[in-house]
Amino acid sequence: MALRDRVNRADRTPSEPDDLITRYRDRLLEEIDLDELARLAPAQRRARLERILGSLLSIEGPVMSSRERSQLIQRIVDDSLGLGVLEPLLADETVTEIMVNGPNDVFVERGGRLERVPTTFSSMEHLYQTIDRIVSTVNRRVDESSPMVDARLPTGERVNVIIPPLALDGPTLTIRRFPTPFRLADLIGKGTLDDHLALLLGACVRAKLNILVTGGTGSGKTTFLNALSGLIPDDERIVTIEDAAELSLQQEHVVRLESRPANVEGVGLVAIRDLVRNSLRMRPDRIIVGEVRGGETLDMLQAMNTGHEGSLTTVHANSATDALGRLETLASMSELELPIDTIRDQINSALDLVIHLDRGADGVRRVAEVQALVSHRREDYRVEQVSRFVQDDLVLERTVTGRFVHQPLPDDLRARLLRAGEAVPAAFGAVTR
Ligand SMILES: Nc1ncnc2c1ncn2[C@@H]1O[C@H](COP(=O)(O)OP(=O)(O)OP(=O)(O)O)[C@@H](O)[C@H]1O
Ligand SMILES: [Mg+2]
Repeated sequence: MALRDRVNRADRTPSEPDDLITRYRDRLLEEIDLDELARLAPAQRRARLERILGSLLSIEGPVMSSRERSQLIQRIVDDSLGLGVLEPLLADETVTEIMVNGPNDVFVERGGRLERVPTTFSSMEHLYQTIDRIVSTVNRRVDESSPMVDARLPTGERVNVIIPPLALDGPTLTIRRFPTPFRLADLIGKGTLDDHLALLLGACVRAKLNILVTGGTGSGKTTFLNALSGLIPDDERIVTIEDAAELSLQQEHVVRLESRPANVEGVGLVAIRDLVRNSLRMRPDRIIVGEVRGGETLDMLQAMNTGHEGSLTTVHANSATDALGRLETLASMSELELPIDTIRDQINSALDLVIHLDRGADGVRRVAEVQALVSHRREDYRVEQVSRFVQDDLVLERTVTGRFVHQPLPDDLRARLLRAGEAVPAAFGAVTR
């Protein structure tokens, strides 16, 4: 039984235009030849539905103005294709995230800020129908036995669905759009970093430093990782490993791997760590892991230490220094159960640079700090600051001003860049400490 059939009918609050939409959406589904429709390109599909609906309405529809008629057609077609009432939000380039918290609460993120939009679903059932349609396009299902789904749409968006009883107030849908990925140069324009830091990071990526990007939820880690990956030279073989593929690298030689959750019977799980281990046998020049969240951290560190320099990953953390503790905790979740000082040894030898991102009160995602990890072997962590954003006192509400301040590079780092034939950008000083 489809989920929508189990939804309490009392949740429905039909109104007249919604009834018209439902009636003609059903009529449209009776009239069209689904196989034929599937063979058409998306734009033709829409045109075809509009034509069939237009003639249906002129034969049996109620009297209405041509404006009402075209609005009705638009809504029904939107509703029958793709993401239904959410289509217009998806078509809006400025929207980066769509959040549906039940049929009447739809929010979007634009320019880093949340706002409520007037879009609504006609009923709880309507929302469930849309959710069913979205997850079925990726051969997944959502129901009481698997009430959470995280998936990537064929068009690239990442979708998360969680329904009752886990979501207390109704089905919750979160869609993250991936507009053309930002390059590092675009991020300079957005105030995320300055030219000097971009130059340094370019040199560090080319010189194959191992880099960790950190930050809170939605701070821009994946975006930054993608932009950094864009600096990898074209002649290197890159393997990307993710839970739900979000990275979009422009290089020619990229192999993309995606983990797989267990199926309903609880089998078939392929975890990030399995993919990291497998990637070692794929002759990668670079391994990029979208985010480390558990025991795979140790595999990643070992990969970085065994000839796969220049690897990049992200971890959720509240500061660059907090990140090292997080890595330690995550690495200790591996079934290898290494003593903590062995893990510290791995982290000290593997990691070169930590880039921490933060979202300011103005919604701008910035590199809050860049730290170089300079400790060796089993020593306690020692970091040296390379860059940080120094914020002026808040002048106006939701306005942030400030500047990026850079420090001379630690000697080891400088030497590594020079050995790799990279220049040290002037902002990072020629002083030898
Ligand atoms: N530097 C930036 N400037 C402007 N917008 C950005 C920037 N970085 C990311 N964004 C936007 O912010 C949203 C979140 O970005 P991203 O997915 O990179 O964050 P994240 O830290 O990886 O999130 P999560 O914790 O969910 O993995 C996206 O919509 C993205 O387009
Ligand atoms: Mg991310």
